[in-house]
Amino acid sequence: METPLSCRNYIDGQWLSAAAGNTLQSRNPALVDEIVATFPRSQADDVDTAVAAAGKAYRSWRKVPAPARAEYVFRVGELLLQHKEELAQLVSQEMGKPLTEARGDVQEGIDCAFYSAGEGRRLFGQTTPSEMPNKFAMTVRMPIGVCALITPWNFPMAIPCWKAMPALVCGNTVILKPAEDTSACATKLIEIFAAAGFPPGVVNLVHGMGEEAGKALVEHPDVDLVSFTGSSETGAFVGATCGRTHKRVCLEMGGKNAQVVMEDADLELALDGAVWGAFGTTGQRCTATSRLILHRDIKEKFTAMLHERTSKLRLGAGTDPDTDIGPIINEKQLQRVNEYMNIAREEGAKVLIGGEIASEDSLKNGYFFQPTILDDVTPQMRVAREEIFGPVVVLIEVSSFEEAIAILNDTNYGLSSSVYTRDINRAFTAMRDIEAGITYINGPTIGAEVHLPFGGVKQTGNGHREAGTTALDVFTEWKSVYVDFSGNLQRAQIDNRS
Ligand code: UN1
Repeated sequence: METPLSCRNYIDGQWLSAAAGNTLQSRNPALVDEIVATFPRSQADDVDTAVAAAGKAYRSWRKVPAPARAEYVFRVGELLLQHKEELAQLVSQEMGKPLTEARGDVQEGIDCAFYSAGEGRRLFGQTTPSEMPNKFAMTVRMPIGVCALITPWNFPMAIPCWKAMPALVCGNTVILKPAEDTSACATKLIEIFAAAGFPPGVVNLVHGMGEEAGKALVEHPDVDLVSFTGSSETGAFVGATCGRTHKRVCLEMGGKNAQVVMEDADLELALDGAVWGAFGTTGQRCTATSRLILHRDIKEKFTAMLHERTSKLRLGAGTDPDTDIGPIINEKQLQRVNEYMNIAREEGAKVLIGGEIASEDSLKNGYFFQPTILDDVTPQMRVAREEIFGPVVVLIEVSSFEEAIAILNDTNYGLSSSVYTRDINRAFTAMRDIEAGITYINGPTIGAEVHLPFGGVKQTGNGHREAGTTALDVFTEWKSVYVDFSGNLQRAQIDNRS
């Protein structure tokens, strides 16, 4: 076994242990005896040091011209590209996703770097006429200050990039608090930011537990903004705390995404989409397909096709090129997924395939769960309403397109959605009537691209969108600027009225 990586915090341009010296460990979820990394168990005092460094650096970073700020981000993109393979290997090892997906995770960071860097030469505001003569009016984007970025383990490269890159181009300084399970990935990512040469204090990394380091960041009076991706439960705490302490806050939480398959759909295509959407990343995406809403005319046929395909999926370590489905991230999540099987059975759902922790041969050394299809599910069942975050998909039968859309919308969440149909009228009706931040026509619910807004309606978020130009709205505030070149006092709303 290789020696575990020894990871540290990155504060004010220095690699530091936690002041109290305590550490935590991350493990390979496919081989749980293997410790991937040790990392600092930071406390409030470590957070104080990071916030002070980020606050100090902000004073000069905000004055660096935006195109120059963006060049650092561009360099991060070049370095990510150069180190793509080794980063992907680490993602597979520490988070568990298959290598092809891990490469995609890094690629999303690279795409985000090049896209965000371009914004350094845009960051457009508006000019608009003044109501007075000889007076000029415009709007400019202002950075917000110190941004705490709290990120999950399922996209350990992409999600920190989605947050940090636009934040930095906009002139903010950042403190990343990554999920405990993927601390080595976060460390390697921040090593790349460090190599891009940002001035000390502009980019910081604080490891630790959510309840300790994460909580201290969210409550810290000198943190100006929190951008959080994770569970609805933690998101509620983050939102409430930021409300109480008057911080800007961007929340990206759960999903209960559905794919509709109509009777006129290309069933092979819909099958490819369903398998990838439901079982890609072991179902551990907030965009994962967790409900399949099937028209009754094709339900039996499609279910047989899905069953067949699912039975062929190979579980294994992400680093093994033959693996289709990697492990669940940790023991707690594995037990949570397993518990939903009891809930499903109690509510009368039928386990068509899977439904158990997988423990044959070497799978017993990791946190594996069989890809699972639950049939006879009604929209009221908990398995049709709650986010499971594992390789579990439920089948719901409908009799019409209208019923499909109504059931798709009957959820507290609203992130991603998908409809397979060859009827253009239905496609456009779906685009109009689905309540979600993302709708795919004839594509699976996963696979958002970085130059489009990412986020959801209802309890998925709080109205913000990451990625795209909408990320700039998260990380800046508007200032309206008036320049009066008349040489006189001109009173708005008074002097231009007779
Ligand atoms: C997430 O699951 O939190 O659209 C992010 C997708 C990916 C990102 C998922 N590009 O599935």
